[in-house]
Amino acid sequence: MSEHERTFVMVKPDGVQRGLIGDIVSRFEDRGLKMVGGKFMQIDQELAEEHYGEHADKPFFDGLVDFITSGPVFAMVWEGQDATRQVRNMMGETDPAESAPGTIRGDYGLDLGRNVIHGSDHEDEGANEREIELFFDEDELVDWDQIDSSWLYE
Ligand code: RTP
Ligand code: MG
Repeated sequence: MSEHERTFVMVKPDGVQRGLIGDIVSRFEDRGLKMVGGKFMQIDQELAEEHYGEHADKPFFDGLVDFITSGPVFAMVWEGQDATRQVRNMMGETDPAESAPGTIRGDYGLDLGRNVIHGSDHEDEGANEREIELFFDEDELVDWDQIDSSWLYE
């Protein structure tokens, strides 16, 4: 399993408005993951429709696009062993009401349509690479050595 697996993560507009960026970043840092990209940005209609394209024919699609474009987001790329699956585990279930306390959605959310965070789906092959490419240029990602890596990995 590669220590260099990268995954796309985003604090959604509700998480930004509620001042949760710092806490969410801390959780991933504390876990031992390494941030290799970060961008505070506003998603436009075109990017939103592309990002959530898999849900284009769902009844909640228009509301989802309106929500994700309604304010700034904090887009990130995190790197580490099994990063995509581990981030999803830390996020909890899609519905905060079904998410265990201790997970991000389980600690900060109550409603399905306001679930604070997005992470690439580990069950969707290649979703992490696709989403990283959609949100970041190659030169916006940084290769760097984490001083504690020999204490995080055997
Ligand atoms: P996300 O893509 O945002 O990280 O969430 P996810 O993988 O856990 O869930 P997904 O099935 O991809 O759904 C994307 C977002 O759409 C909203 N949703 N609403 N009203 C509904 O039935 C419904 N189902 C999903 C959620 O906000 C979910 O995060
Ligand atoms: Mg999804």
